[in-house]
Amino acid sequence: MQTSTQNKPAGENVPRHIAIILDGNGRWARKRGLPRTAGHAVGSETFRKIALYCRNIGVDYLTVYAFSTENWKRPEEEVRTIMRLLNKYLREAIDTMERDRIKMRVFGDVSGLPEELQDLVAETNRISERYEGFQANICLNYGGRAEIVHAAERYAADLLEGKTEGPLTEERFSSYLYSSGIPDPDLLIRPGGEQRISNFLLWQCAYSEFYFTDVLWPDFSTDELDKAIEVYRRRDRRYGGVK
Ligand code: FPP
Repeated sequence: MQTSTQNKPAGENVPRHIAIILDGNGRWARKRGLPRTAGHAVGSETFRKIALYCRNIGVDYLTVYAFSTENWKRPEEEVRTIMRLLNKYLREAIDTMERDRIKMRVFGDVSGLPEELQDLVAETNRISERYEGFQANICLNYGGRAEIVHAAERYAADLLEGKTEGPLTEERFSSYLYSSGIPDPDLLIRPGGEQRISNFLLWQCAYSEFYFTDVLWPDFSTDELDKAIEVYRRRDRRYGGVK
């Protein structure tokens, strides 16, 4: 990763954790008469740029939805290309993440990914353990409901083995999710024009602020992110209480 992205003053009330549903790659490519996979290639560069920008403006965590448990239904060639891009991205990240102070974690069922990708995920995890700093979480083979079921299974197993005991609190349950130890997203952004959550971070987004835009992900710029943060800053977060 390069560090050239401009540094804007962090200002007040920068979201600590931003989550983004990467959407609109296919349409971006079609509009230009290109194969859908070209949109994914530009989309992965957009992710690189936005991750660096988030780090520079003082965001602590960026979580992106890159490949869902349902995305396997796409044409084989498209899935292969996305896996190839992820491979390329993680390979490059391994060389630069420590220098750039970007930790990475993958949320999702990694065991269902191609073996080479699994190895790269393990390597990025290993490097990430060595330092503190901005963290990018990439959701791969991820589904929000599957995550909750998986957490429930792990909790039940620990209970049976006497590794934990009741009562089960929300806090304890959270520690079984992929996002264990990470604060919930403050701001969830969905580019691409759709206004739905699509099985993304169902537990964690209970009190997140949502921001939708028609901009397609490959066109998503740092200015767009500034706009989303500006809107977020004007929101009144009450968490069910009154002010
Ligand atoms: C959604 O757009 C995008 C995806 C399912 C794939 C996202 C993957 C990448 C950008 C590749 C690498 C990612 C990282 C984080 C390095 P869509 O295809 O559903 O777009 P459409 O709605 O216009 O068809």
